[in-house]
Amino acid sequence: MALERTLILVKPDAVQRRLIGRIVSRIEDKGLSIVGMKMLQVTPELSKQHYAEHVAKSFYPDLEAFITSGPVVAMVVEGPEAITVMRTLMGKTNARESAPGTIRGDLGASRQMNLIHGSDGPDAAKREIATYFKDCEIVSAPTGLAPFLWAKEEE
Ligand code: RTP
Ligand code: MG
Repeated sequence: MALERTLILVKPDAVQRRLIGRIVSRIEDKGLSIVGMKMLQVTPELSKQHYAEHVAKSFYPDLEAFITSGPVVAMVVEGPEAITVMRTLMGKTNARESAPGTIRGDLGASRQMNLIHGSDGPDAAKREIATYFKDCEIVSAPTGLAPFLWAKEEE
């Protein structure tokens, strides 16, 4: 197991619906650490960089219009296997199919307006964190809670 970092976006739909606090709480409730956080407006250029794998797909114009439609909250989230843990916590891409108990399953009913983004693997996490955050904007502050959250061998 490994201590990982992942890039999370609270998407414009969730910001407009005043769900930032509830989504941040779900991440903190899980025991993961937020080590970077900012609000920003995604530009069309940033959207094309972030969603490079989707730019040629038929749904991309709608995706770009959505992700640039209002501010997002970007976070770097850290913890053991944080990438997978966050993908599980988020639920399936299509919120109509996401299990109850997941963020998308509990709070949404759309495939596009699905509230939250999370990196889908280690390479994407590294690339996306570097896209949104400078090194000096990531602050890891040990809280002393780790021994109560997971065993040393799980880090
Ligand atoms: P994300 O990248 O935002 O975390 O979402 P994901 O991995 O669960 O899903 P992905 O396949 O990477 O799709 C990126 C985002 O594009 C929108 N989408 N629309 N109309 C469609 O068929 C369609 N498919 C995907 C969603 O907003 C999805 O989160
Ligand atoms: Mg994705």
